[in-house]
Amino acid sequence: MIIKAKNNFQFILFGATGDLASLKLFPAIFDLFIQKRLPENFQIIGYGRTKLNNEEFRKKFKESIKRDYQKHDQELEKIIDKHVFYFAGQYDDQNSFRELKQFCQEIAQNDKYIQIAYLSVPPTVFGPIIKNLGENFRSSKHELRIVIEKPFGVSEDSARKLFNELSDQFDEEQIFLLDHFLGKTPIQTILDLRIQNSIINNLINGRMIDNVKISALEKQGVEDRVGYFDNVGILKDMIQSHLLQILAFITMDLPVTPNIESIHREKLNVLSAMKFTSKKNDVVFGQYENYPVKNSKTDTFCAVKLYIDRRDWYDVPIYVETGKKMPENKTEIEIVFKKMSFQADSVPSNKLIFEAKPGETAKIRLVQENSECPDYTCQDLEILDLEKSIACSSEGCLGDYASLILDVINSRKVFFLNYAEIEAAWRLTDQIFECRNTPSKYREGQKGPDSYQEFIKND
Ligand SMILES: NC(=O)c1ccc[n+]([C@@H]2O[C@H](COP(=O)([O-])OP(=O)(O)OC[C@H]3O[C@@H](n4cnc5c(N)ncnc54)[C@H](OP(=O)(O)O)[C@@H]3O)[C@@H](O)[C@H]2O)c1
Repeated sequence: MIIKAKNNFQFILFGATGDLASLKLFPAIFDLFIQKRLPENFQIIGYGRTKLNNEEFRKKFKESIKRDYQKHDQELEKIIDKHVFYFAGQYDDQNSFRELKQFCQEIAQNDKYIQIAYLSVPPTVFGPIIKNLGENFRSSKHELRIVIEKPFGVSEDSARKLFNELSDQFDEEQIFLLDHFLGKTPIQTILDLRIQNSIINNLINGRMIDNVKISALEKQGVEDRVGYFDNVGILKDMIQSHLLQILAFITMDLPVTPNIESIHREKLNVLSAMKFTSKKNDVVFGQYENYPVKNSKTDTFCAVKLYIDRRDWYDVPIYVETGKKMPENKTEIEIVFKKMSFQADSVPSNKLIFEAKPGETAKIRLVQENSECPDYTCQDLEILDLEKSIACSSEGCLGDYASLILDVINSRKVFFLNYAEIEAAWRLTDQIFECRNTPSKYREGQKGPDSYQEFIKND
């Protein structure tokens, strides 16, 4: 089923001259446009301090699209002529926002539309934009939705402060807290599979599971994101939101009636129950050799062992590992099942694997290669490897940003974060961060520092 936008809308993009806008957001909107999912009446309004006129901004928009959509010249001309605008203004200036509101009214082609304010700016600018938007747009007759990208704060305290600023101006249903990982098809499929497939859902039960491992490894270094990354580090960049959210989808109890509220409630329950022992040998921090910032202590590798303080899960270790300059590109969740009492240590465990990178598959490995079993039972044991693509392959696939932007237009919040979840995730992340010491060095292509091999061996 092709889901279309249900509302006329104005998409006001703060930070429209930045990287995220041209690399991800313009192509995502264009994708929705060429798939005919957008209504007749919509406007994209780029906002920034850079002084551009409509034509200059349209040129920028076009350049960012041209790279990937060479066969869509006609649609590109159409969207640019009819739907793309620019408004130059300051982020901390009331007048700019008053004029912006006026501008939005002038270019609107319809009486009824929603307004989406997307904050694609560095977090230091969130405060003034939130205040000015609230004060100037609250009285608008058009419903305003505000979208903020993760990282939401840099600690539990800063996240709470930011959320207070937001909720001073907006109601909770207007606030969309975005983590683009949750827009990825393989990640959304974890929830779909649990809801639709009782075999898979019944398998994901802590009593049957030996351990869970989630890996997000990439061969690239920090490259041109160094300015952002050096202030954050990989624990806060990858684990705090992306990986803890995925873990929550895997380990939460499935509600009896799955809906947006019950799914968020169960995710919050499991995130609040995640525990870190605060033992220094349950976490490893590393930094790759030749990291571009001299004397920086920023982590580019982090591995941590967590537990979940719930009846079925309390003794199941959860291993999280993520790093840059790794030997491979891999994003994968591996659920390793307990062995039967008679199985030797050498027999590999059965596994359920969700892979998001490099392939997009769900795999169940029921009987392993090299399995040993007593003579009197199975002479002809076969490996039973079930592998199913979970890549979007039907007509009208959408990338992560396109899928989430459509969700904002349609006010569908299941794949957005809710604030209580963010706070629970920060509480855990802050505890892990407190154990941080100077990260040990590792070579490019090595999976973490030598101390990580020790960590694995001990477990
Ligand atoms: N890039 C990514 O792949 C990515 C991924 C996930 C999340 N994010 C988040 O998305 C947001 C935008 O990312 P981005 O990479 O596009 O950021 P960016 O390029 O650094 O900044 C976007 C725009 O914000 C304005 N800006 C930059 N620094 C500013 C400052 N100090 N004060 C006021 N305005 C400033 C600039 O526009 P004007 O000068 O024209 O006003 C700039 O073009 C950030 O919050 C980032 O953490 C980015």
